[in-house]
Amino acid sequence: MAKTIAICNQKGGVGKTTTAVNLAVCLAALEKKTLLIDIDPQANTSQSTGINETLDEDIYEALILTENLEQATVERLSRIIKPVNPEFKLDYLSILPSSPGLAKLEMELVNAANRERRLQRIIKAVEANYDYIIIDAPPSLNLLTINTLTAANSVVVPVQCEYFSLQGVAELLNTIKLVQSNLNPSLKIEGALLTMYDTRNSLSKQVAEEVRGNFPGKVFNSIIPRNVKLAEAPSHGKPILLYDIQSAGSQAYMNLAEEVLETANG
Ligand SMILES: Nc1ncnc2c1ncn2[C@@H]1O[C@H](COP(=O)(O)OP(=O)(O)OP(=O)(O)O)[C@@H](O)[C@H]1O
Ligand SMILES: [Mg+2]
Repeated sequence: MAKTIAICNQKGGVGKTTTAVNLAVCLAALEKKTLLIDIDPQANTSQSTGINETLDEDIYEALILTENLEQATVERLSRIIKPVNPEFKLDYLSILPSSPGLAKLEMELVNAANRERRLQRIIKAVEANYDYIIIDAPPSLNLLTINTLTAANSVVVPVQCEYFSLQGVAELLNTIKLVQSNLNPSLKIEGALLTMYDTRNSLSKQVAEEVRGNFPGKVFNSIIPRNVKLAEAPSHGKPILLYDIQSAGSQAYMNLAEEVLETANG
């Protein structure tokens, strides 16, 4: 059975997509069969892995068709899940892409059956093919995020090392508790991840301390530095390992992947 990790924080621009893409790529580079799921209508994860063209079907159709389990055949879902660009030579990585059309799903599912469990159903159907499933969540606490938390085994919360970055964390922890009591009792917090850390800036150190206070014993040792290569890579449609393997960003996400594997084994 795969381990499903959701990358969640309803605050925008904190490094969710950068973390989802690069953690998934590093796990795949470490020869773990990995599925990267984009459940954000902004579709940044899809674009960052070189999927720019309009696809016939994406996660929107997959979430619609899982209302009916007979329709949600593994075969049909496997067609919506795509291998990444073959030039990347990442045979262990697949992606379930998104597109802006996903934004209309929430309205369409207002009264639909199993509306919180659609992503869970997709994952149940395909997880036997993977070791890890990484989900990039949208910057909101909407139905897509509820589907994400319901489908996940654990949550990684990226926290940007900036002032105001802890705003909203209490609300997120509350939502996680609600999902634990109603939809997914075994959901765990994998850890908070410090992102865009700047060693020259004392504010980064202060925020790191505050995050350690908010997530006692649950902050990753791996810290993601502010690194211009991480910001540049998506505009080339590439993950950091392929854009600049020598960069501090590559090293940091490789460390994170190794830490995730250690936790799973330990
Ligand atoms: N460690 C980093 N160093 C430098 N730039 C970064 C780093 N992490 C992310 N960025 C840049 O910061 C911006 C926001 O990052 P990202 O898209 O990963 O955040 P997000 O939480 O997914 O945003 P959203 O809430 O809109 O989905 C992007 O332009 C990204 O390239
Ligand atoms: Mg994002």
